[in-house]
Amino acid sequence: MGHTVTLACCALNQWALDFHGNLQRILESVRLAKEKGAAYRLGPELEVCGYGCGDHFLEGDTQLLSMQSLATLLEDPLTRNIICDIGMPVMHKNVLYNCRVIFLNQTILLIRPKMYLAMDGNYREMRWFTPWTKLRHTEQFYLPPLIADITGQVCFNVLPIVS
Ligand SMILES: *[C@@H]1O[C@H](CO)[C@@H](O)[C@H](O)[C@H]1NC(C)=O
Repeated sequence: MGHTVTLACCALNQWALDFHGNLQRILESVRLAKEKGAAYRLGPELEVCGYGCGDHFLEGDTQLLSMQSLATLLEDPLTRNIICDIGMPVMHKNVLYNCRVIFLNQTILLIRPKMYLAMDGNYREMRWFTPWTKLRHTEQFYLPPLIADITGQVCFNVLPIVS
């Protein structure tokens, strides 16, 4: 007899660079996910900054504001007791990745960079992001102080997983 788990898969009406509005919608989705009894809340790709930020993806401010949004999410009591899987850009060793940041109870469990970037049709993800190419290879990621101050972690693993 297996166990069941409730997964909340959220499609949000995010806007490019609307950090405040995006954050409110993420928090509301976490609230709804918990209300429905979900143990895991999965959000859209790059939901923190919005998907189509164009060359704003390359600006330091976009990355800083994304980290500040992550800090707010970590600190909000709403994100307690539910695994949050958040889409946001993350700079690692001066290279920008399109990532999932997964945390529970103010502890970051995993950062998972996207491995296969969309380059067909209207997509030009490789203009802004680098694909993670080190299959099943883990590296230490040094948390920015504004995150480490909350989580009490100094660094943790960047771990790509392929299905
Ligand atoms: C997360 O925190 C809640 C209390 O806020 C606690 O009940 C729960 O056991 C914690 N989960 C884990 C895995 O530590």
